[in-house]
Amino acid sequence: MRKEISRDIHKMHAFVRFKKTGEDMKSEREQFMAWFEPDHRIMPLTAQFFQKRFTGMDWSIFTPTGSASWDGKILRLGPGVDKVEVPKEELDELWRGYYKSIFNPARLKVKAMQAEMPKKYWHNLPETNLIESLISESRHRVQEMHKKNLRSSTSGGKNPYLKHLRNLTSHDEHIVLNPDQHIRQPLSRIRELANCCQACPLHQNATGTVLGEGPADAKIMIVGEQPGDQEDLLGRPFVGPAGKLLDHFLTKTGIDRKECYVTNAVKHFKFIPRRNQRLHQSPNLDEISRCKPWLVGELREVKPRIIILLGSTAARSLIGTHFKITQQRGIITGTDLAAKVIATVHPSYLLRIKDSQQRQHEKALFLKDLQLAR
Ligand code: URA
Repeated sequence: MRKEISRDIHKMHAFVRFKKTGEDMKSEREQFMAWFEPDHRIMPLTAQFFQKRFTGMDWSIFTPTGSASWDGKILRLGPGVDKVEVPKEELDELWRGYYKSIFNPARLKVKAMQAEMPKKYWHNLPETNLIESLISESRHRVQEMHKKNLRSSTSGGKNPYLKHLRNLTSHDEHIVLNPDQHIRQPLSRIRELANCCQACPLHQNATGTVLGEGPADAKIMIVGEQPGDQEDLLGRPFVGPAGKLLDHFLTKTGIDRKECYVTNAVKHFKFIPRRNQRLHQSPNLDEISRCKPWLVGELREVKPRIIILLGSTAARSLIGTHFKITQQRGIITGTDLAAKVIATVHPSYLLRIKDSQQRQHEKALFLKDLQLAR
């Protein structure tokens, strides 16, 4: 029973879709409503999640067995209602755009997807009518990519998608992640969309999405792993201890951080709670790839001349899982990401080295990599 309820709660967190109904002139707060049909009476168990997640807007959620509303001050629980008609409007388009951008066919088995997003939810989800077309479109694109022999265009012949491409022909349900389906939006819109990202479970515990910051026409883009504890709280990348060390080395190198676009491969903080601390956990491959559309979206907008990849998560995201920082650090050739890509260690690695001689040695190498970038 507990499992059933947890699953129902999880589905509700993921599949509630708000529609905008208006704006309160006095408070200038936007108002939204949503209709959802859970299997159990879980409205009281989920209300706080929505309060925390959508705290900046007024909303009401109606289900047949309970309702909840939030006005920025008070969370009210109420009785269930018969199905309410929620208005149709532009948010549906937003959802569809968003879903298209996070749709990751390479990791998707249609059956598994339908198990995750059971059909009974589909009629209330604006994005579901895209699923069939995205799948068939992807198949077509994959065949095209095969024809063009994508192998030669990225990563010096070690295209990380190639395995999926091969699988696709033999297993129809595996569809390659098509880079063209990554989000193509202005940075401000990417930020808006990424703020509601629920593509992987990391959004559940993080305070919020931390997207990159810096000029939209920066020549240098610095890509780290994921926000840490302080970044998560402040909503800005590289502001904690690793960020301070990075700043120190950038200054030493003569690179002005204000002129760089600084971001991360993964946009949510992954951690485990330990007493009153949140201990960093490295994101896994699935989380990295689900977050990649946001990073590629940033890349496509900023179009940096050089990308500095800090640590293996950033390298895994943009170069491939085979990449070994310690053996392949420095300039990486043959990528179509930017004119130059440089991979180096992550500053938090430097912070962790206990042996002072080794630390000095690694710091000198790090400085050299940044100088190369400059
Ligand atoms: N480490 C990262 O990789 N990114 C941050 O933003 C902070 C710490």
